[in-house]
Amino acid sequence: MASAPGKVILFGEHAVVYGHPAIAAATDQRTVVEVDCCGDRTTVNGFRIHDRFHSYLLTSVERVWKRPDAVRIQTEGGVPSASGTGSSAALTVACVAALRRLQGHEDIPGLAQAAFEVERATQGGGSPTDTSTSTAGGGIAISSSLDPPKVGERLWDVGWHVPGEERSWTVERIDMPPLTVVLGNSGVKGRTDEQVAKVANAAKKNAVVRDSLAEIGALTREAVPALRKKDWAAVGALMDKAHSRLHTLGVNHPAVETLIQAVRAAPGTLGCKITGAGGGGSMVVLTDRPAVAAKAIEAAGGTAYGVTLGSPGARLEKMAAVEP
Ligand code: MEV
Repeated sequence: MASAPGKVILFGEHAVVYGHPAIAAATDQRTVVEVDCCGDRTTVNGFRIHDRFHSYLLTSVERVWKRPDAVRIQTEGGVPSASGTGSSAALTVACVAALRRLQGHEDIPGLAQAAFEVERATQGGGSPTDTSTSTAGGGIAISSSLDPPKVGERLWDVGWHVPGEERSWTVERIDMPPLTVVLGNSGVKGRTDEQVAKVANAAKKNAVVRDSLAEIGALTREAVPALRKKDWAAVGALMDKAHSRLHTLGVNHPAVETLIQAVRAAPGTLGCKITGAGGGGSMVVLTDRPAVAAKAIEAAGGTAYGVTLGSPGARLEKMAAVEP
C-alpha cells in the first residue's frame, strides 16, 4: 500500500513542457493505492480494469508490473479529479510505488522515472512536474537539464527516452515555507492531454505563444528569490503576471476567469492564477485572508478549499493489522 500527494503548480505550467523552469509543491491531499497479488484478472475497486476508466492504472500495470499474474488494485482518492491539482499524478505515483514495492524496488528516483513514463505514455505528452512533485513532496523546481535553475539540492534527472523524442529534466529541492493557499475549483473538468496538445499546436503557429512560454519561464526564475525571501507581495504580483501569460496561451476558461476576477476584488488577495493544465480546473490564490478569498470563490460559483503546501511525498503505508 502506498500513498502520494496532489500538487499545486505555483509557476511554470505548460512552459515546463518546453524546458522552461517550473515551481511546484505537494499538497496535503493524498491518494492511497493498495495492490494485491495475485488474482485471476486485474481489477480496480472490484471492477475489471478498463482503459476508459482506469487509463493511468492500466498503463502502470502494463509498463511497471509486466508480469502475467493479475493484480487487485484498491484506490482511495483524496485529490479531486481533473481539477489541475495532480489527481492523476498522485494515483500514478501511489500505484507505481505499490507495484514496485511488490517487485522489491523502493528507490525514490526510480519511482519518479517510472511514474513519469506511465503518465507521459498515458497522456501522450507533458513533463515530469506532476509526478516528480508527488514523488518528492515539499517544493521542487524543475527544468530541462539543458538549463537547470540551480536553486537547491539536485534530487534527480527524469527523462523520456523514446528515440527521436528524447527529453530530460532536472528536479531540485526548493525551500518551501509551509504556505497555505486557497484553491478555487471551477467544476469544469480540464484534460491535461488536450491542453498540452492545444498549446503545442498554438506554439507551432504563433510567435506570441512562444514568447509567452519564455516569459512564463522568466517569471518563474524571478519567483525563486521572492519565495526564498518570503516576499509574498512580490510572489503574488508574479502570479498575476503568470496568469495573463497563461491566458495568452489559450488555457484559460470563462468559469476559471470568473473566480479569478472575484478573488482579485476581495480584500487580502496578493495574487492569483490558473494552476495546472487549465481549460477548466482550478485557480490558486495567495492571500492574507484565506476565509475572505474562499467566500469570494464560493459566491462566484466555485468550490474553495485551503491547502497547505510542502507536504510529504510518496510513501509506503502500513497495512492495517489483521485481527487474530
Ligand atoms: C499539468 O499539471 C502541468 C502541465 O505543464 C503539463 C505537464 O507539465 O506535464 C500543463
